[in-house]
Amino acid sequence: MSTTNPEANNAADLKQALLEALIRPDHRISPVWFYDHRGSALFEDITQLPSYYPTRTETSILDDNLEAIAKAIGNNRLVVELGSGSSRKTVPLLKALDQPAGYVPVDISADYLHQAADDLSQQLPGLPVIPLVADFTTPFALPQTLPAHSNRLGFFPGSTIGNLTAPEAQSLLKHCHRVLGDDAAFLIGVDLDKSPEVLIPAYDDPEGVTAEFNRNLLVRINRELGLDIDVQAFAHEARYLTDPARIEMHLVATTDQTINIAGQTHTLAAGESFHTETSHKYTIEGFAQLAQQAGWQLTQHWCDAQNRFAVLLLKAAKNQ
Ligand code: TRP
Repeated sequence: MSTTNPEANNAADLKQALLEALIRPDHRISPVWFYDHRGSALFEDITQLPSYYPTRTETSILDDNLEAIAKAIGNNRLVVELGSGSSRKTVPLLKALDQPAGYVPVDISADYLHQAADDLSQQLPGLPVIPLVADFTTPFALPQTLPAHSNRLGFFPGSTIGNLTAPEAQSLLKHCHRVLGDDAAFLIGVDLDKSPEVLIPAYDDPEGVTAEFNRNLLVRINRELGLDIDVQAFAHEARYLTDPARIEMHLVATTDQTINIAGQTHTLAAGESFHTETSHKYTIEGFAQLAQQAGWQLTQHWCDAQNRFAVLLLKAAKNQ
């Protein structure tokens, strides 16, 4: 452990990711690279934007239906949250649940995770909190020592599942079924398909925060890889596409761009783009079907009045 330098590894991985993106015909680069310090702060700002409805809508669905949700979940659950971040949405849920057995926040960022776990312990004295540093997009195991509990609840808010492709989402759900067990329930936030007139501004706000968030990827690449990509020559674009319904975020070269890296010269012609993020939009039925193929049964769901967003409660299906 002590011989590895995580920073150097990161830069090497980022370089690899950029090289692969330049070679791939779709110029796809993983969204994990968005979240440097600045990227994480900008993402927080996005969640507060008037046009970015998902965070606000999900929070109010949870608030408005807390009692019914807690009742449907049942008592003595061990709550396992994927990508817990600040655990902001979880505190009211944990408070509303009937005798929760414990809370396992799972996050890739150790710093954030331990800070959030400490804060949470203060707000909910007496609740065992067992943080787990893990990348939930790859198979992970629960900590070995857990408080006694009768069953488990997975919690996955934020429509983060939408940032995975359908096969990736299914393998995540299958894995969660294995980890959480046959008596588990899963509470998940899913953004619903809707008019591009609502969807596009959520990913291309008039304030330009999402554009800055998207371009920050190039700022980071320049800084960490010592490159001089002309950041302002790339335009932020949010595209609504169907089959499957989704928003794609792109960084479009407005003029021909030459990128020199690792002794190679790559070009992005004007109009070509880096594809930086995908956010799939579901119908309730479509998501229920995807979940069913991964071993989960939809039992109940809650939406806002405009049907923009849904919070779904799944139950582990037996006889797989
Ligand atoms: N999962 C959320 C969504 O797709 C949050 C998110 C992920 C996001 N990456 C993003 C929001 C990039 C805006 C821009 O909406």
